[in-house]
Amino acid sequence: MSDTAKPHLPDAQTVTAVTHWTDRLFSFRVTRPKSLRFRSGEFVMIGLMGDNGKPLLRAYSIASPAWDEELEFYSIKVPDGPLTSKLQHIQVGDEIILRPKPVGTLVHDALMPGKRIYFLSTGTGFAPFASLLREPETYEKYDEVIMMHTCREVAELEYGRQLVESLADDPLIGEMVGSKLKYYPTTTREEFHHMGRVTDNLTSGKVFADLGIPKMDPAHDRAMVCGSLAFNVDVKAILEGFGLREGANSDPKEFVVEKAFVGDGI
Ligand code: FAD
Ligand code: A2P
Repeated sequence: MSDTAKPHLPDAQTVTAVTHWTDRLFSFRVTRPKSLRFRSGEFVMIGLMGDNGKPLLRAYSIASPAWDEELEFYSIKVPDGPLTSKLQHIQVGDEIILRPKPVGTLVHDALMPGKRIYFLSTGTGFAPFASLLREPETYEKYDEVIMMHTCREVAELEYGRQLVESLADDPLIGEMVGSKLKYYPTTTREEFHHMGRVTDNLTSGKVFADLGIPKMDPAHDRAMVCGSLAFNVDVKAILEGFGLREGANSDPKEFVVEKAFVGDGI
């Protein structure tokens, strides 16, 4: 479409890169509004113009860190999903709508100081941690960062795996990451070197044994949780069993939770 023919969307940003990871997962980058300030871990509303001429918007975690010049998103493709059935076809140069009003609970300010932070996620729940893993504050605040990500199949872990691998060479945080980051990806329905649900690996103590770290303890450990509602409910109960309490921006404690999506998952 020529530039003159292109309808300019309200709050429009331009797509600068798109990567398809599986038939159900893709990531993309867009230009960043100059006025947008956000804290790593927050989400915004993004979308496209709907067929009825009104914006069709959904909540999306910003997967890039607060210092990045562009914004990155990591997305599901829901076959009949009102937004993602279209969004999955975006290409470099296309426009999306992005409301520059970031919010969310998965921010460092919502946790009391600690020694070790756990990022616990399934599926696209990895997105806010893709931001926080690239955020210098994460490594300034904690001695150890434990990234647990579980998907059904190995291919669904690839976005996270490449991101973690790239951290060592990152000019801004490469040296800070050093040996602080312990990445613990698992699958549940395909053979992999580490397997099992986040919940099972926490309750059995397998993750602590595999990583050579002590059992979770509210005096030192903090956690951020992002997955389906069922995942969040189950992880919350386990964290509370270890003695951690749920906090919020206005009331920092030992862990915070955010939904990766609403519904039962596809
Ligand atoms: P919807 O009508 O919105 O969803 C249809 C159904 O698809 C849902 O009922 C659910 O069963 C399933 N579904 C929706 N999203 C997902 C998902 N991410 N993983 C598995 N199943 C899903 N989605 C992302 O892909 N990346 C994000 O970073 C992201 N961040 C979010 C942050 C928050 C706080 C919330 C509440 C949601 C977030 N979502 C994210 C979900 C997103 O808002 C949309 O639901 C998703 O883009 C699908 O939109 P849709 O219109 O195609 O389908
Ligand atoms: P499982 O394969 O045992 O169901 P989904 O693709 O359904 O969203 O799930 C993503 C990952 O999250 C899968 O590995 C799935 O494991 C796991 N999972 C789903 N529900 C829960 C839960 N309530 N607690 C822990 N892990 C879960």
